[in-house]
Amino acid sequence: MRKLLLAAAAALLMGSGAYADTIKVGVVGPFSGPFALQGKNFKAGIDAYMATNGNKVGDNTVEIIYRDLPAADPAQSKSLAQELVVKEKVQYLAGFYFTPDAMAVTPILKQANTPLVVMNAATSAIVTKSPLVVRTSFTTWQTSTPMAKVAFDKGVKKIISVVSDYGPGVDAENAFKAGFEKAGGEVVEAIRMPLATNDFSPIMQRIKDSGAQGVFAFLPSGPTTLGFVKAYNENGLKGANIQLFAPGDLTQESDLPALGDAALGMLTTFHYAVSHDSPENKAFVEAAGKAIGNPAELTFPAVGAYDGMHVIYKMIEATGDKQDAQKAVDAVKGLTWTSPRGPVSIDPESRHITQNIYLREVAKGDDGKFINKEIQTFEKQGDPGLAAVK
Ligand code: PHB
Repeated sequence: MRKLLLAAAAALLMGSGAYADTIKVGVVGPFSGPFALQGKNFKAGIDAYMATNGNKVGDNTVEIIYRDLPAADPAQSKSLAQELVVKEKVQYLAGFYFTPDAMAVTPILKQANTPLVVMNAATSAIVTKSPLVVRTSFTTWQTSTPMAKVAFDKGVKKIISVVSDYGPGVDAENAFKAGFEKAGGEVVEAIRMPLATNDFSPIMQRIKDSGAQGVFAFLPSGPTTLGFVKAYNENGLKGANIQLFAPGDLTQESDLPALGDAALGMLTTFHYAVSHDSPENKAFVEAAGKAIGNPAELTFPAVGAYDGMHVIYKMIEATGDKQDAQKAVDAVKGLTWTSPRGPVSIDPESRHITQNIYLREVAKGDDGKFINKEIQTFEKQGDPGLAAVK
């Protein structure tokens, strides 16, 4: 009898929330297929954050539940998110490498009472689709705008632009064109390639034939970017004095050894370089390098995920085990911290990350390994794309 009473009392206490809870975070990303390395970097960033900060926020234990989404597949993305919310009862959704996958989830957030922390997808409009979206990565407007000025200042006046034909590509094209024309340059031709393009020789011929002095390019990081930069290097464009300008998606660190000496000197603009010189980044690279196993595989989605976890921990601090998505999001508006990438904050209006964008040059570091060497800083960049999508 006494035992029974004790059990009943314990059950009551649990029901009243007197015991600590497990708070689940559902993370969707490419963990298999051609983009698996990008998903592996999400996981490395998350593991590094939790190894450094523990898996508890107050009394609550944080648990990550991963779902694999190998390619841009909005229908599958939405059904994975629904399953995470309904069956797994996750309190947060996070990750999302490709824009269409993040976009597909925004309509369910309100009813699910769940914030979405975007750790990569980089089309400006995503944050406008729901007040429950916060982004800790970058936008292609943010990374491409400074490149327009850099290209013009290098003396290039006529450029051909080449992008993948979907959200972040179209944003990158518009951003570069706006900045380059404002500086006084001309975009002589704008090519949009299907996302699945993997033979770039015909494109290289069109670039040569265009009469442009330079090419601006954006493709999503992965086998696509490696193939594109290799084709640029192997088709004599450099010899023809057609310089390549791009956001840093095209020179992610994990691809540099495969690009080799041909990429030396290539200029890109981006929010994060693994070689960024700061104590916060040293600690991050050590922890994330351990988490990923082979530190040569570390690249930018890891930092988007690491900072995404920082934001989620702050949300949990504010709301604990009470599921209140709006309160959680409100708690991180204006949040400021020092990320491994440098000083950052969450813009209270857009809920997108304000950060430095760096001009980098592919170089060899002290140990002979290829790096993106930061050579100039564009400080505290917001997202110029938000004005454009309004
Ligand atoms: C995107 O789909 O938003 C995306 C993916 C990879 C990138 C940049 C943007 O490198």
